[in-house]
Amino acid sequence: MNSLIAMRCGKKIIGMKKDDPLKPGRRCVRQEDGGGREPGPRDEYELLDSGDGRKYERFGEFKLVRPCAQAIWRAGKDSSQWQDAHATFDRTSGNRWRMETRLPEQWVITVAGIRFRLSTTDFGHLGIFPEQKDLWTWIAAMVEKAKKKTGRSVSVLNLFAYSGGSTMAAAKAGAEVWHVDASKGMVKWARENAGLNGLENAPIHWIVDDVNRFLEREIRRGKKYEAIILDPPTFGHGPRKEIYKIEEKLSSTMDKCRMLMSDSPAFILLSSHTPSLTPVALANILRSATRDFADSCIEHGEMLLAGRTDDVLPVPNGTFARWFRKFLSEEKP
Ligand SMILES: C[S@@+](CC[C@H](N)C(=O)[O-])C[C@H]1O[C@@H](n2cnc3c(N)ncnc32)[C@H](O)[C@@H]1O
Repeated sequence: MNSLIAMRCGKKIIGMKKDDPLKPGRRCVRQEDGGGREPGPRDEYELLDSGDGRKYERFGEFKLVRPCAQAIWRAGKDSSQWQDAHATFDRTSGNRWRMETRLPEQWVITVAGIRFRLSTTDFGHLGIFPEQKDLWTWIAAMVEKAKKKTGRSVSVLNLFAYSGGSTMAAAKAGAEVWHVDASKGMVKWARENAGLNGLENAPIHWIVDDVNRFLEREIRRGKKYEAIILDPPTFGHGPRKEIYKIEEKLSSTMDKCRMLMSDSPAFILLSSHTPSLTPVALANILRSATRDFADSCIEHGEMLLAGRTDDVLPVPNGTFARWFRKFLSEEKP
């Protein structure tokens, strides 16, 4: 399968430097395939095809066509095979959904063992970024290993937390989570998702705030976290219209995150859909933020949308880099 080929190639170790000037202890840098390998047996998301600037996807029982700037190749299937789509999101005639079938206002799918409520939105989003599914699996594994190692709960800060995929992955694995997003509506959506996953009484703190404001407050309070997850938008804004431009703000966000890491941190996961932020660029950001941590490991790669069969080309959909303590990669969950 294409996604398996990507995985095998992606496992290539591209650098392991014992004398890395950036770090005091051992540090390895690996390139990974990070996301979207072929759907698990119970995943209800599936990439069906892509090409000619669009992608054709199945979310549970509904098949949808959406724009996809990266899909600059020819579609793999004949266009007649896309015609059973239930709806198409069109940017050429204004941002709107063209429904072939009336979609329900909301429906629920399971991806990577996490239940999500989906709804069509005016931006063409549905409340899930399925390319992050392998990152959710990784978060859960890391939390479990860190918990086992320390014998206590792990505190996880999830920034730009959207509909809560990472929050739920961490909480299901037993972490205490601080979920931060500027949008009251998105935090409500994430809380509903937590309820769908039986996490209504889990230790999750729901925070509507601008990320940088929140981080500054936490620094003043002397708060510390064992793990930080962040998925900053290319452009966004806080509840009081604080502008977030990733190129201008990410470095200072990372500096603040660094100040909030505990003395025995477990991991930092940074992902992005900003085209200029390549995997190596994200890894460099993490390298400089973690240069004084000993025993470090950094992996970086592309997030992929993937289908179930070889003829479905994987679609690169964003990048990630993750820093973690090397002993966590050696520990069995
Ligand atoms: C998950 S991120 C970005 C997702 C994806 N990486 C992208 O670029 O489309 C989007 C989330 O960040 C939130 N957000 C944007 N600016 C923010 C800010 N300044 N502080 C906190 N949350 C913010 C939005 O409300 C949204 O839920």
